Amino acid sequence: MSISIPSTAIRGRFLDIQNIVSQPSDIAEQVRYIEDGLLITEQGKIKWFGAWQDGQAQLSGHSELQHYPDQLIIPGFIDMHIHFPQTEMIGAYGEQLLQWLNNYTFPTEMQFEDKAYADQIAAFFVHELLKNGTTTAMVFCTVHPQSVDALFEAAAQYQMRLIAGKVMMDRHAPDALCDTAESAYQDSRQLIEKWHGKGRNLYAITPRFAPTSTPEQLARAGQLKAEFPGVYVHTHLSENKNEIAWVRELFPERSNYLDVYHHYGLTGERSVFAHCVHLEDAEWDCMHKTNSAIAFCPTSNLFLGSGLFPLSKSWEKQVRVGLGTDIGAGTSFCQLQTLNEAYKVQQLQGNQLSAFESLYHATLGGAAALQLDDQLGNFNVGKEADFVVLNLKATALQQLRQQRARTIEDALFALMTLGDERNIQATYIYGQKAYEQTI
Ligand code: GUN
Ligand code: ZN
Repeated sequence: MSISIPSTAIRGRFLDIQNIVSQPSDIAEQVRYIEDGLLITEQGKIKWFGAWQDGQAQLSGHSELQHYPDQLIIPGFIDMHIHFPQTEMIGAYGEQLLQWLNNYTFPTEMQFEDKAYADQIAAFFVHELLKNGTTTAMVFCTVHPQSVDALFEAAAQYQMRLIAGKVMMDRHAPDALCDTAESAYQDSRQLIEKWHGKGRNLYAITPRFAPTSTPEQLARAGQLKAEFPGVYVHTHLSENKNEIAWVRELFPERSNYLDVYHHYGLTGERSVFAHCVHLEDAEWDCMHKTNSAIAFCPTSNLFLGSGLFPLSKSWEKQVRVGLGTDIGAGTSFCQLQTLNEAYKVQQLQGNQLSAFESLYHATLGGAAALQLDDQLGNFNVGKEADFVVLNLKATALQQLRQQRARTIEDALFALMTLGDERNIQATYIYGQKAYEQTI
């Protein structure tokens, strides 16, 4: 039985990127800015989009018109890498990756054995995504299958498009957080059958990272991917120098870190590798050849002292990149804050990340990195109607700065530098208002 979704019509200032590009210098010509625009949705999808004066006649008496005269409406933010169970441990002091996992992360994740607890955090997490204008996310759960149920159930309330999976982890972690090669395979398989392609949910096979899976478990993960080629693979890669040295010790027969995943059949066009801060040339080449994608997580890379992701190398090597908050190593749910730090990470490497390139990675580029650009990422007719209404002047300082913005690019850059969740006025999922700021 298909559910009827009310039609909506939104009038306002719209900004998006029309097409995928292969060089950052091509982005500016793909920018579409409509000062007085109209977007009409039907059954959650975009039915009409264009200038208000051309579209008025399209308005049927049934669609409710919402007018945002001073705001800026952009496609919903896409978060390519985030851990929902780590929401409560954001801002844990003083450690780099491997100690941080042992001291803070594993104890926190143990609590998700309790489904009621997982439900409570999942509801908080989904609301936090909406509050920050994020409409699609690729999410790590915990080793417990019930943590995946909790998340997909919470997202279904808003018909939100999420990609998520159960962590596979059978060594180098507390016993209470370890599965086995066999149980990880069976549990993941059941979850794929239960959730993948149900509503807007998609499943990701989720080995935590190479050090916490035995070769047998990675082989089982690869078997699952071969059996269900439409599902995603989501893991971590080359985040921290001690981690990389550990992988070399654990898998001496593999030529580099990525080669571990590649050997077990875990690279490919629906594979997302978080971080990739310290990739060697051979790994970049493998990322390109297998059409694998990267989640760039600047707030996390700075917070854990992991390093600086070389974004320009991803263009040079033609590897798709989206943006990840990586909560709880990352320090904000907000893609505006994430872009603020992304800019600085690039500045330290002599690369000036433009506002339009930032918008690209956070919307259409992220959708392309998830192989979802036929459904998400801009306002093209037929795509799913997920978008965010931004108030550019949420503080006195922003008001002062925005009054001086002469171009939409400058206004956007100032928003990305100064902005946070206070700038998210409303978030629409599948054409329906899922969040509105109330103060
Ligand atoms: N590598 C393995 N597990 C994790 C995690 O939970 N967070 C981050 N940032 N890196 C990881
Ligand atoms: Zn992570």
